[in-house]
Amino acid sequence: MRELIVDLGDRSYPIYIGEGLLKGASSYLLKHGISKKSPLLIITDAQVASIHLQPFEAELQAAGFRTASAVVPNGESSKSLSMLESLVTKALEAGLDRKSAIVALGGGVVGDLAGFVAASYMRGIKFVQVPTTILAHDSSVGGKVAVNHPNAKNIIGAFHQPELVLYDLQTLQTLPPREVKAGLSEVVKHGLIWDERFVDWCEEHADKLLALDPDSLGYALFKGCSVKAEVVSRDERENGLRATLNLGHTIGHALEAVAGYNELLHGEAISIGMIGSAKLGLRYGASDEVYEVTKRVLAKCGLPVRLPEHFDTDVVMEAMMHDKKFMEGTMVFIVPTAIGKVEIKPDVPVQWVREIVDELKREGDQQ
Ligand SMILES: NC(=O)c1ccc[n+]([C@@H]2O[C@H](COP(=O)([O-])OP(=O)(O)OC[C@H]3O[C@@H](n4cnc5c(N)ncnc54)[C@H](O)[C@@H]3O)[C@@H](O)[C@H]2O)c1
Ligand SMILES: [Zn+2]
Repeated sequence: MRELIVDLGDRSYPIYIGEGLLKGASSYLLKHGISKKSPLLIITDAQVASIHLQPFEAELQAAGFRTASAVVPNGESSKSLSMLESLVTKALEAGLDRKSAIVALGGGVVGDLAGFVAASYMRGIKFVQVPTTILAHDSSVGGKVAVNHPNAKNIIGAFHQPELVLYDLQTLQTLPPREVKAGLSEVVKHGLIWDERFVDWCEEHADKLLALDPDSLGYALFKGCSVKAEVVSRDERENGLRATLNLGHTIGHALEAVAGYNELLHGEAISIGMIGSAKLGLRYGASDEVYEVTKRVLAKCGLPVRLPEHFDTDVVMEAMMHDKKFMEGTMVFIVPTAIGKVEIKPDVPVQWVREIVDELKREGDQQ
């Protein structure tokens, strides 16, 4: 079992990563101040519920927790204001009070949604993250919680840190292969912004990660969470450094929006976005190697590095203009300058970005 702390003063919390942790979930919850006296609401999605909810809830109940559960449809569309309202109804029906906690059992969708319910119910109650996807190593750490507006992703949200993150590697064994790959995208991202040696490690261990080898997975998630925790503890509210975690996300979010949140998974869109950022890096003088390594490691993880032809460049650019990272009309991009190093560029010419979106559709043609 690995443990690390997200250092945020009196709101610091631990992340536990290991095999079979859910079998002892109640002891972790009790250790971190989750009360048995008040009811607890587990929020999960239909797919996760069908595999992991029953044993998890049974363990908590056996230890004396009073639990209720709410199952939302799987998929990004559950991150909506209407779903928030129905979950608040569920919390009221279950009698949740100020000392209650909400437990997110699932991937990033459930984590973001359940976290926002916890942040808003009675102006904020306790919250526990039980991530069940690889991608959720990113979303479960750092306290950003949100739902989507039809016109913009994650635009209605809050900062609400969990009491603890309980990451049971066994739950990952049931992840569909496409979700495994998509999750590795954010793992690689954490290497690309912070740790060159970890990028090399990811390339060397890509096959093992894709095969869900527990040792490799445990290490990768520990490293990914460590980078995220380090960045968040230095800049919780995204005044500077935290923005580097958005590597690949300006283009990536636009691609997700254009595709209607169903053609590309988040991690896949971010992979293509990170190739775009690496291409921008070349224009700012980064070496070819930075771009080559980025592309190689993402491809080894089974991720797309090319934008499907049918994406219209104008439509993608239009979607980018709605992105909340456009501050005061300037285009902000996170650009790699070396492997494991990125810089925030506040004045990227729109024309460059347009050219790069076009180039992304031809990515790989030269090989
Ligand atoms: N808050 C943040 O800082 C942050 C960071 C990154 C991403 N996100 C958000 O995370 C979301 C994406 O998260 P995600 O990729 O985990 O998607 P997800 O939660 O939709 O999970 C992906 C799919 O896998 C299924 N699934 C989950 N765990 C499973 C398991 N163990 N076995 C079998 N199936 C399982 C789910 O039912 C779902 O269909 C996006 O909404 C994104 O905006 C948030
Ligand atoms: Zn992301």
